[in-house]
Amino acid sequence: MKDWTAVCSLDELPRLGARRVARARGMPVALFRTGDDRVFALLDRCPHKGGPLSQGIVYGDGVACPLHNQTISLADGHARAPDEGCTPTFACKLEDGRVWLDAEELAAKALDLQAPVAGPCAKAQA
Ligand code: FES
Repeated sequence: MKDWTAVCSLDELPRLGARRVARARGMPVALFRTGDDRVFALLDRCPHKGGPLSQGIVYGDGVACPLHNQTISLADGHARAPDEGCTPTFACKLEDGRVWLDAEELAAKALDLQAPVAGPCAKAQA
């Protein structure tokens, strides 16, 4: 049996948009709301090069990553062909106008995945 935790109301999640849920450890979870008010939760990390999916464009039941425009399925986290890769999904439900996530998954899932390093990474010249 899952230990559900309420993270926001449906009204706080924009239609065809997203918001981030911070975790005590690990990368944030991105919540998505489709045009027909379904909700999904993915790790906020594109499987391609780690782009922030929460800043992508939601259409249908997918999100287009803001970095290189790969489309990720909100239902299973898989990149749509011809692209490859998968980002972790989180159990999510909508009940009584609130969005709920599995507390155990929030605490323990995908803690090994890191945020990408942005910007120049050149080492200082001697
Ligand atoms: S990082 Fe998302 S498509 Fe490249």
